[in-house]
Amino acid sequence: MSAPRLALLAPALALLVGACPQPTKPRGEGPAGAAAAGEPAPAPPAAAIPPEQWTWTIPRGLSEPPVPEDNPMSAAKVELGHQLFFDKRLSVDGSRSCYSCHQNHLGNADGRVKALGPGDKDLPRNTPTIWNIAYHTAYYWDGRAPTLEKQMIGAWKGGNMAVGDGVDAKAAEIGALPEYKERFRAIFQLSEGEAVTPDHVAKAISAYERTLLCGDTPWDTNTLEAAPLRGWELFRGKGACVTCHTGPNFTDGLYHNVGVGAQQGERDLGRGAITKDEADNDRFRTPTLRGVADTAPYFHDGSVAELRAAVVAMAKGGDRSLTGLDPNFADRGLSDPEIDDIVAFLRTLTCPNNLVVIGDQAVVGI
Ligand code: HEC
Ligand code: HEC
Repeated sequence: MSAPRLALLAPALALLVGACPQPTKPRGEGPAGAAAAGEPAPAPPAAAIPPEQWTWTIPRGLSEPPVPEDNPMSAAKVELGHQLFFDKRLSVDGSRSCYSCHQNHLGNADGRVKALGPGDKDLPRNTPTIWNIAYHTAYYWDGRAPTLEKQMIGAWKGGNMAVGDGVDAKAAEIGALPEYKERFRAIFQLSEGEAVTPDHVAKAISAYERTLLCGDTPWDTNTLEAAPLRGWELFRGKGACVTCHTGPNFTDGLYHNVGVGAQQGERDLGRGAITKDEADNDRFRTPTLRGVADTAPYFHDGSVAELRAAVVAMAKGGDRSLTGLDPNFADRGLSDPEIDDIVAFLRTLTCPNNLVVIGDQAVVGI
């Protein structure tokens, strides 16, 4: 590798260090910071990773995420994806980047009831967090995108970035920018004059997204205090929340009808619109609860403004007058103090780390 390319990557790799959570201890090893005999050697700092290689830094509570064979991780690719994720020039009118709707202080979402696309176009759904997105098996509230790479191109062409059929031209234009050109060429081994395609951009952004890991919370380190600990016991016991919000990501990856939005004029069929099976109507994918205290408003339609109200709706089994609700969804008879404990537990699931912001990311209206 030539010296100028290395120089270009050095500040980029420094950014990466900040993007990755620091401690690396497997779950269940006891309180944070306790020195255990025989502990594995810590992973090398990200800055030491050669551009063409990759070393995971996995926060406690999580395992190494799966990576598709046709999009291997590398430090250079992750860093390129990081910059592209923050580049407003990807959108049709230069008005917003991916980050515009997936912001740190809003739990990696946008704080809006429903998302606002370029040209102030109202979009049909609430923006979900993208923490731990690497572990999902399908994307969007209705699971219509099977991979992160396909989801990225969907967001780019669709209402979020509104590039539409101009996506090939946009990818070539982005790929020809002086700050990106050589890097695309090296990472994807493009021949001289070969244009950057949407697939290359999607691969770089997806590689970056796979590094957005949220762990190391008191739940992950078995250090919950009294009220959140009671809340966790209710969450997995009397409240039966774990029937759907299960595993380290608090989701079963399946689609359930919990009656949200069923009475709205413009009905969102959810999973049913994808499978065309009526039985799937009104079913939505169980969302992760990582960072949930910051992602208000809640549900696919943003219909509930505040966390406690969302928990009450869940704990009471929604609107019991509706038909077709999931059989595992019921009124669990939780008292007010018990609801408070579950809310206290959910508040501990906030990620200790942040995305490293590049450039001015202010957007009018978001
Ligand atoms: C205008 C706001 C907006 C922008 C810009 C935006 N998103 Fe999103 N994002 C959303 C909304 C809304 C959804 C959910 C849409 C749905 O489920 O139908 C979503 C969903 C996602 C998901 C799936 C989450 C899940 O739980 O399945 C990922 C991943 C994602 N976005 C990444 C990106 C990337 C990468 C970009 C840039 C190419 C981007 N977003 C740009 C609003 C936005
Ligand atoms: C039958 C499966 C199921 C059970 C049981 C369940 N949930 Fe959910 N939960 C879902 C689904 C599906 C959604 C998304 C619904 C939608 O937006 O249409 C959801 C959404 C949520 C949300 C909003 C998250 C967001 O980002 O918008 C919270 C908070 C939540 N659930 C907490 C709980 C709690 C607490 C319990 C236990 C009292 C519980 N859930 C029980 C399936 C379930």
